Amino acid sequence: MTMSPMASPVRSLLLRLAPVAKRILPRPLQRYLLLHVLRVNRGYVPLRSLASRICLETEILPWVSEHCPKVLFVGAAPYTCHYEKLFARGQYTTIDAHPSTAVWGSSDHILAPIQEIRRHRPEGFFDCVVLNGVFGFGVDTPEEQRRVIEVLHGALRPGGLLVVGWNTDRHADPDAAGLFEPFFERVSEPSCMQRRRTFAGETHVYDFYVRLPA
Ligand SMILES: C[S@@+](CC[C@H](N)C(=O)[O-])C[C@H]1O[C@@H](n2cnc3c(N)ncnc32)[C@H](O)[C@@H]1O
Repeated sequence: MTMSPMASPVRSLLLRLAPVAKRILPRPLQRYLLLHVLRVNRGYVPLRSLASRICLETEILPWVSEHCPKVLFVGAAPYTCHYEKLFARGQYTTIDAHPSTAVWGSSDHILAPIQEIRRHRPEGFFDCVVLNGVFGFGVDTPEEQRRVIEVLHGALRPGGLLVVGWNTDRHADPDAAGLFEPFFERVSEPSCMQRRRTFAGETHVYDFYVRLPA
């Protein structure tokens, strides 16, 4: 039997030390250990080569970075921590409900459910919210999704941009169900966001909305 470079005794010791490490180690060191020693990103290699993920990383986020001074990215993961580099200092906030993901958040990270964003930032604070992989991964029913859409209407300035990435095999189409009305309408101005983006062989889609006045 061959043992991986991070064989089980060392790995289990590191995992046992994790709660202490979280308290005492600086975040860059925690990330280094998680990514390069425990290699938590291994399972996400196929995801990172999907056309939908490449679209997010090379088209959508760069566009958002160029046009939106204040951006909220919902849901942090080991494969999203480098997104912060696409943004200027102070431009990019992350939020996630789960404490274990805080290490992957931006330097401006909020540990809370998105439903509670009002407790953390004033109304109309953001120019863009990217809600990718949250519907169907914690916010699952039409009722919960509508509540989040309403909350995001409050968090965005009038005319602000909402990017929703979701999977057609995980729940019903929130747009067809009318969940965005009367809070948002689809982007109509010509840009990479003018229409729903779909990807051959994938269930992931992106929809783009403009925040309507209250
Ligand atoms: C599938 S991951 C998506 C990560 C990332 N947004 C992306 O682009 O792939 C789902 C993440 O959403 C978070 N999440 C689920 N429900 C949430 C909620 N109500 N508020 C904030 N984060 C939530 C989970 O903790 C998890 O980290």
